[in-house]
This record gives sequence, structure tokens and C-alpha cells, in this order.
Amino acid sequence: MSRIAVIPGDGVGPEVIREAVRVLEHVNRRRGLDLQLTAFDYGAERFLRDGTTLPDAQMEAFRADFDAILLGAIGDPRIPDNRHGREILLGLRFKLDLFINLRPVQLFNEKLCPLKGKTPKDIDIAMFRENTEGLYVDMGGLFKKGTPDEIAINEDVNTRKGVERIVRAAFAWARAHGKTRVCMSDKANALRFAHDLWQRVFKEVGAEYPEIQKRHLYVDALAMLLLRKPEDFDVIVSCNLFGDILTDLGAALCGGLGLAASANLNPDSTPMFEPVHGSAPDIAGKGVANPLASILTSALMLAELGHAEEARAVEGAVRAVVDAGILPPDCGGTHSTKAVADAVLDQLASLPARS
Ligand code: NAD
Ligand code: IPM
Ligand code: MN
Repeated sequence: MSRIAVIPGDGVGPEVIREAVRVLEHVNRRRGLDLQLTAFDYGAERFLRDGTTLPDAQMEAFRADFDAILLGAIGDPRIPDNRHGREILLGLRFKLDLFINLRPVQLFNEKLCPLKGKTPKDIDIAMFRENTEGLYVDMGGLFKKGTPDEIAINEDVNTRKGVERIVRAAFAWARAHGKTRVCMSDKANALRFAHDLWQRVFKEVGAEYPEIQKRHLYVDALAMLLLRKPEDFDVIVSCNLFGDILTDLGAALCGGLGLAASANLNPDSTPMFEPVHGSAPDIAGKGVANPLASILTSALMLAELGHAEEARAVEGAVRAVVDAGILPPDCGGTHSTKAVADAVLDQLASLPARS
């Protein structure tokens, strides 16, 4: 049995998670996976109603009683400082110590790629984003706020243990998946303390993986090369903030945020799965959000829960739907959220039953 906590969240979150849950329930029924899904209402509405973000006791229950968390998106224009987002989304990543943010950048069909002449074999990158440190630690403050002498500080925290474990995760993944190239990206030419540590750790850990080609690129050069020669990359590892930015760029190479999935992992904790995109307030409530990122995110979750065959089936169904051109507006199509998910379910109708 796998216990899954579902947090649809804000904006398009509930619209796309509803469809991902339909897909999961279908696969669950056909294959007798014994997935037990429980919904939680954490998000903007709850916060605005009673001030709750994510109680500590709930966080503990997620750690102790659940095998995975599926999250839609957190973010609402009515909460401009994003306090609930920090406490729920970043709270889950930090408090569950989910140090690996794995964001696959995988082109399914060349018609989705904005670059000329790139095909699926050219764009297949595993991006490893450090997920528990860096500029996201929420250390800092404001001094003399609102005055001409104001000072604003955000600390960038990089620990040897933290850098080592994400760099090792990237190398280990490359080895396990037969990938031969790992690129580490930093900005050591400007950030000479924090990213000096990244450089030394990359060399040290890399020495344990002699068969893997190591490459270092400053993040500005990497942003440029990702557009010009994405085929040069198998695995990329970077700090929290650069990973955030690079993965939106990666998503754009593959058809946009509507298709980008992610997993927040720590082998010793409860993993959390979420699409890369946010709550998309500009299209929320219109029924046109792309559900494929959430459906692909569910496939990542199925794989992590030990259901590799079912994960491949869901991914295959998404590929078929993309190939058939059954796409929502963000990918140049005219189909609704539900119609796209219906097409995925049609593809999965023939999934051989097993109990
Ligand atoms: P966003 O990802 O919500 O939207 C960026 C653009 O992509 C918008 O034009 C949007 O319409 C489009 N888009 C996103 N998801 C889509 C989908 N499934 N289908 C079709 N189009 C889609 O980023 P933003 O506008 O910068 O942020 C909006 C809110 O979401 C903010 O509050 C932000 O903090 C939050 N956010 C949350 C998460 C998360 O919970 N994981 C991630 C990113 C942003
Ligand atoms: C993401 C988002 C979040 C991040 C925001 C909403 C805090 O952009 O998951 O990519 O920066 O990690
Ligand atoms: Mn982001």
C-alpha cells in the first residue's frame, strides 16, 4: 500500500491535479497498486480563512504516515509576500529535507521545441537543483526599512555536506542511467567563497566517477549553451536559485511549463512531487491549463514508489497525446484541460489489467 497526500493548492493547481488524480486512480484500478490518496486543503483559501499555512504536526504526519506527496502549485495574488508559499512549498522541501530537486528536461516531439532543427534525441537532460540551501534559506532581514538608508540582506548558505550530497546525487544518477556527462554550473568568478566550495566539491566527488566526463560552466555561459547546443548535456547540477532559473529555461526548450515535471527527493524522507509551473493566475479558472506537467509528475511519483512499468505507461500515453496534437493553448492547441487528460486516459484504456 502507498499512502499519498494530495495538496492541489492554488490557481490552476486544483485544475491540473484533478486530472493527474484521475490518471492515477485509473492506473491504480487497472493495476491493483493499492494507492491511497488523501486530499489536503493547504493553500491560499485556507490561509486567508484561518491563517493556517502548514502546521508542524501535519508536516510530521507527512513524514511518518505518507509515502509521497503530490502538490499542484502555491501562490496567490492576494498574498503578495507569498508567506503561505514559503511555509507550505518551501516548508515541505526544507522540513522534509528534500535536498534533490530533479527536473527532467526531455523533448517529446520536435514540434514543441522553439529551436530550429532539434529533435528528441538532442534534448534529454536531467537537471539536479540543490533544494535545501543557497539563497532560499530565508536568513537575512531589512534594516531601516522604508528609509533612504535601507539595507536588505538575503544570506546565501552553502554547506559542504549540502553541496556534496546534491553533487553526489547527480553523479550517482548519471552512473545508474548510463549517462556519461555531468556539468556543474556556478558563478565562482563572482561568488568566490560559496561557489569555490562548489568547485572543490565537484572535483572531489567527481574523482569517484572516473568514467564520467566532468564539465564546469559559469551559469551565464550555460544559459547561452543550453539554447545553442542542448545536445551537449546529459546531467546538470546547480545551486537552488540557478536551478530554479535553468529549469524554466529547460522547460521552454521542451514546449513550456505546461509539460515540465519535478520530483523533490531524499532517500530517507517522504518525497514530494510537483509540476515545475506555478499557480498561473492569468489562466486560472478558464479550464485551459495544461495538465500534462502534473500527469508526468505523477509518472515520476509512480516510478519512485516502485511502479516503473506503470510510470512508463503514463509517460508513453502523454507522448502519444502530444504526437497526436491533442494539446492545450500553451502548446499551440485548442483543447481544454479536461480534453487533454481524457486523451491521456483513452491511451491508458488498453493498459493490461493486473491485480
Ligand atoms: P507560473 O508558472 O504560474 O506562470 C508562468 C506562465 O506560464 C504564465 O503565463 C502561465 O499562464 C503559464 N503556465 C504555467 N503553468 C501552466 C500550465 N499548466 N498550463 C498552461 N500555462 C501555464 O509562474 P508565475 O506567474 O511566475 O507565478 C505565479 C504564482 O505561482 C506566484 O505566486 C508564484 O510564486 C507561484 N509559483 C509556485 C510554484 C509552485 O508552487 N511550485 C512554482 C512557480 C511559481
Ligand atoms: C519553483 C518555484 C518556487 C521556487 C517559488 C514559487 C518559490 O519557482 O518551484 O520553481 O523558486 O523554487
Ligand atoms: Mn521556478
